[in-house]
Amino acid sequence: MADKIRVLLTEEEVNKKISEVAAQINKDYEGKEVHLICILKGGVFFTCELAKRLTIPVSLDFMSVSSYGSGTKSSGVVKIIKDLDEPLEGKNVIIVEDIIDSGRTLAYLIEVLKQRNPKNIELCTLLDKPERRVKKQVQVKYTCFTIPDEFVVGYGLDYDQKYRNLPYIGVVEV
Ligand code: IMP
Ligand code: MG
Repeated sequence: MADKIRVLLTEEEVNKKISEVAAQINKDYEGKEVHLICILKGGVFFTCELAKRLTIPVSLDFMSVSSYGSGTKSSGVVKIIKDLDEPLEGKNVIIVEDIIDSGRTLAYLIEVLKQRNPKNIELCTLLDKPERRVKKQVQVKYTCFTIPDEFVVGYGLDYDQKYRNLPYIGVVEV
């Protein structure tokens, strides 16, 4: 039987907020170029919608990571499944994520990517669950929505690889 999904954020709400965040990035990086790093797979829908709304010059790259350990808890040890194609030397990097939960994945990634000498690195996330943060040092520059501690799907986010394609963000009712 299909799961019941309660809508948390509609497609209109999400798209409106992405436009606002894109406008802020256009302003902050005026006269500069940005290099967006999409964290696969969850970040892909958000990255596309964000990139379409940027008017500054944009380049894109993709990275796939998985945290070691099973279950829903990330261990903090991150395995790079697919690395970037391009070097980061001298670039204005923005990491684009679907959601920041414990912050373990990003805390690790930032350390790894900093060693590649970008000009700077900022974080942009569609969703943030600050209640769950373990790695308090992770500073997020651009957040679309801060949400309570609920497991969400849609707009790239999955539950067992399903629901990434939903155009809105919802909670699977159990
Ligand atoms: P963390 O910040 O290292 O704990 O892990 C973040 C990753 O866990 C995200 O990139 C998602 O892939 C996954 N994740 C965390 N919360 C959710 C959720 O509510 N729905 C779907 N995936 C989630
Ligand atoms: Mg993810």
